[in-house]
Amino acid sequence: MFLLMIFTYVVLLQFSKTTTAQQNPTLNYCTNYASSSTSYLQFQTNLNLLNSSLVSNGSVNGFFNASFDVRNPNSSVYGLVQCKGGISMGECRTCLQTAGENIIKQCANGKSAFIRYENCLFRYAGDNFFSQAKTSPINLMPGVDDASNVDVFSKNVEGLMNGLTANAASSASKFQFGLANDDTNSLDIYGLAQCTRDLSEKDCLSCLRRMTDTVYVSCRGKKGCQAICASCVVRYEVGEFFDTSLLPPFPPPPPTSSPPPNPTGGKSSMIVVKIVVPVAVGLVLLSAFFGYLSWRKLTNKGSNNSGNNNIESEKYSLQFALRTIRSATRDFADANKLGKGGFGVVYKGVLPNGQKVAVKRLSQSSGQGSEEFKNEVMLLHKLQHRNLVKLLGFCFEGQEKLLIYEFVPNGSLDKYLFDPTNKACLDWERRYNIIKGIARGMLYLHEESRLRIIHRDLKASNILLGDGMNSQISDFGMARLFGVDQTHQETKKVAGTFGYMAPEYVVNGMISMKSDVYSFGVLVLEILSGQQIINENREDSPKVLTSIAWEHWREGTASQFLDPCLSTGSSDEVIMKCLHIGLLCIQMNVEDRPTMASVMLMLDSDSLTLAIPSPPPFWESENLSVVRSGSATSN
Ligand SMILES: *[C@@H]1O[C@H](CO)[C@@H](O)[C@H](O)[C@H]1NC(C)=O
Ligand SMILES: *[C@@H]1O[C@H](CO)[C@@H](O)[C@H](O)[C@H]1NC(C)=O
Ligand SMILES: *[C@@H]1O[C@H](CO)[C@@H](O)[C@H](O)[C@H]1NC(C)=O
Ligand SMILES: *[C@@H]1O[C@H](CO)[C@@H](O)[C@H](O)[C@H]1NC(C)=O
Repeated sequence: MFLLMIFTYVVLLQFSKTTTAQQNPTLNYCTNYASSSTSYLQFQTNLNLLNSSLVSNGSVNGFFNASFDVRNPNSSVYGLVQCKGGISMGECRTCLQTAGENIIKQCANGKSAFIRYENCLFRYAGDNFFSQAKTSPINLMPGVDDASNVDVFSKNVEGLMNGLTANAASSASKFQFGLANDDTNSLDIYGLAQCTRDLSEKDCLSCLRRMTDTVYVSCRGKKGCQAICASCVVRYEVGEFFDTSLLPPFPPPPPTSSPPPNPTGGKSSMIVVKIVVPVAVGLVLLSAFFGYLSWRKLTNKGSNNSGNNNIESEKYSLQFALRTIRSATRDFADANKLGKGGFGVVYKGVLPNGQKVAVKRLSQSSGQGSEEFKNEVMLLHKLQHRNLVKLLGFCFEGQEKLLIYEFVPNGSLDKYLFDPTNKACLDWERRYNIIKGIARGMLYLHEESRLRIIHRDLKASNILLGDGMNSQISDFGMARLFGVDQTHQETKKVAGTFGYMAPEYVVNGMISMKSDVYSFGVLVLEILSGQQIINENREDSPKVLTSIAWEHWREGTASQFLDPCLSTGSSDEVIMKCLHIGLLCIQMNVEDRPTMASVMLMLDSDSLTLAIPSPPPFWESENLSVVRSGSATSN
């Protein structure tokens, strides 16, 4: 059973074993001043005043805010500093001085800037930002290892962090530590939540929730994670990341008044201890912060604010109002219908700003709750690649669940490939580009994005063609998310499209990146032949394209497999290479299939010697759900 204990933090914690010199910043940003020079000179004068005021007063009790020239909006300046707890005034001062120096270096002519180190933060702006939460950019720092029972672990993390978040927001110190025991995984989970002290309870809470939402989604199953923005920070770790000997002894029974929300329902019991904090300690508490950043050393390399660690998780800005979408699609008019997929009907729409969008109206049977849904969208929004259709946002109101995508002008690949007149415009050059685009997009989904995504339903109708017939993969949103160490998972619900599905998927419901590779191979064969994988009207037998391709390959008549409208010639070799790669991808044995990375390598190289493909699975042409051994067609 899950037991959660929350301690109110009343002593200075020696977070960091090493109080070394200045670290790299863990977060910084800058916006540049773009106004007339006279007011900028005045602004700089005020900034200098602010600088010395913050540095000298901030080191006294670890938190200070000040403002200058507030009557004149062109030159006013507001600033605040905060130091971590458990460091001396001298160390605090040193950190603030460095911050004051570097914030100027890194943000010349800045109108607003922020920098955060292990020991302190420094923030200024031309506008009054006091008491307002700034929740982006976010520096998200996920740990490396995964818990074994992800579901239980995530639940415990969420229970812990939701409790800490509520307590931190309501406390004067805006700071809370806690511990949860995950008995299923035999792990102790330590957590922390903290806001800058100028925030109200409500704003602190909403800031922390944004951080925890990000952490829950992007670090699901990770044994440690933290999310940092200008106004608040959350962190959890397996194992101590602060000195527990400094926590108060085992807590007395909790008071009965106003317990924090218990997010895991009856499953966990929560003991909450509130200790009256003496004023003197309270003052010190003001400064308790940032110690958890000792863990930062692990990630210092990637923390210079340039890499993908900084994410904009603007979940709320991704939200579209239903009435906007209704008017954009003319109330989901039939005339605006673009097509129907497995998850709902897709409509074309035009937003008030003139932008064209595709709106996927999800079938109402899908039982995802609002938070789950938003998290999913936030995740998918983060996947950005030129070969993926861009998700712009969502709408979740009443019974309606909508996904709003960028409109891709040229429709889907199947509309060209299998249409006798349209296919002519897909010359080899274009088909080759489409194949490479799909491969790049799939490689991104499998290996290069932060999340490993298995598409599960790669097929011609899910490849959209953009400007210049550039291929963009769609519908990847429905993919199941994979942890770093997982390579496959079982699924009872076989949801792909027959013919594209790998045999192990059809028979055992096993999906993996290699089942996507199989679908990719089928797609390549379709692009080469201009024929659908399954076509009941096909004259020659067998009816399944994979077998036809294999027969031709074996008999040395591969050119007869190709779409007659492909003019051959100088590109013959490349076409044969693609056929070869396609066959490698559809091999019966999962291990024999290449990864998307090696597919990309093979496509890009002219000199690579490709492996000899073994026969693809033999599909009974009458009943496609039966698979015989792959060797059935070989001699
Ligand atoms: C803060 O520091 C400045 C010196 O930079 C000093 O003039 C001022 O009195 C101090 N106190 C406050 C509340 O600003
Ligand atoms: C410091 O911030 C508070 C709001 O949190 C504000 O009321 C106060 O005026 C600020 N102090 C200065 C000197 O600007
Ligand atoms: C601020 O600057 C704008 C244009 O730069 C000017 O029109 C305005 O009068 C200025 N305001 C003050 C209070 O100086
Ligand atoms: C703050 O003062 C230091 C000198 O103490 C100076 O190097 C730095 O540029 C100043 N920073 C700002 C933001 O004015």
